[in-house]
Amino acid sequence: MTSFPKKLTHKLLQSKEKLLFRSLKTIYPLIDFSSNDYLGFSSQGFLDEEIKLIDKSIRVGSTGSRLISGNSSFFEEIESNIAKFHNSQSTLLFNSGYDANVGLLSSVPQKGDLILSDELMHASLIDGIRLSFATHYKFKHNNVDHLIELVNRFKDDFDEIYVVVESVYSMDGDCAPLIEISKMCKEFNLHLIVDEAHAIGVFGNQGEGLCQHLNIQDYCFARIYTYGKAMGCHGAAIACSEELKHYLINYSRSFIYTTAMPEHSLIAIKAAYKLLTKTDEITKLNHNIAFFNSLLNHTSHFIESKSAIHCKLISGNKQVQEVEEKLSSTDIFVKSIKSPTIKVGFERIRISLHSFNTKEQISLLINSL
Ligand SMILES: Cc1ncc(COP(=O)(O)O)c(C=O)c1O
Repeated sequence: MTSFPKKLTHKLLQSKEKLLFRSLKTIYPLIDFSSNDYLGFSSQGFLDEEIKLIDKSIRVGSTGSRLISGNSSFFEEIESNIAKFHNSQSTLLFNSGYDANVGLLSSVPQKGDLILSDELMHASLIDGIRLSFATHYKFKHNNVDHLIELVNRFKDDFDEIYVVVESVYSMDGDCAPLIEISKMCKEFNLHLIVDEAHAIGVFGNQGEGLCQHLNIQDYCFARIYTYGKAMGCHGAAIACSEELKHYLINYSRSFIYTTAMPEHSLIAIKAAYKLLTKTDEITKLNHNIAFFNSLLNHTSHFIESKSAIHCKLISGNKQVQEVEEKLSSTDIFVKSIKSPTIKVGFERIRISLHSFNTKEQISLLINSL
């Protein structure tokens, strides 16, 4: 075996010293307050049952990129159904939310354009922005005044301005002020990009996401729906205009230079959308979110949230890790989020609520915390 680079050994040592060393597990505590399977589509077997109802023989493997040999009428049928569901002119599927965000943000904003993004953006959006030749500034989290200030300062210096937000923030669980932001984008003619990863399946009568729940979908330039969370499967779609879809097919490198997703992934996505239209799990999840919030008091240091993600602030990497471990020893599965993933002093226990969590489990969690 060749020797391992010293610099990398040093980095690994450093991450261990700072309690940031990551490793893979195969066994998890029983009471799930951590997975993204908000509706239990995956863990409770709902999607499995729905997939069995789809009468289609499955070809394993897709044989190539969609631009070469990997496309099919099944792909196009599914994209057209997703577009209808999300009230969009069209959609384009990607192999994951990460791919969709990187592919969109690296290819769309050009040199001479400006990207304004919320400071608490997900890594996939940040990585896409890093690959772009556009100028990038962050605005303070959910601070529309700061966003307006930046727009006023820079609007004459750039050709196009893209505003990038998450409808539900993955690390805080709070929602973007989408009504104000979308109005502002309309007024200043900015292009609004909304990542709905944690809103699909959670907001809207049929889990359409927060944009449709607030009826602002027509103000969006692009919306990203990911399927690895409430939808219980894998992949993602960008909902956008026909024109943007054509552009992405031609210029989005994470779409072009990768093997298309196989049919079994498409079947799972189709089944997950079917389930959304008939499931009780969205209502159950929202009851659990309301129940969880009813147990909190002003002194409990939780970030206010109406989504499935809730965070209790516990300052210090060591302290937050200890809480995770203690809860784990009583079979409660939560994740500690440490700095520098989030700002020093804002370390937290991140909780994901699910439709299948019982009231007893939720009470136990709050009491234990
Ligand atoms: C806000 C947000 N966007 C995108 C992604 C990436 O989605 P995927 O897991 O499908 O790659 C995630 C995943 O954690 C996310 O939280």
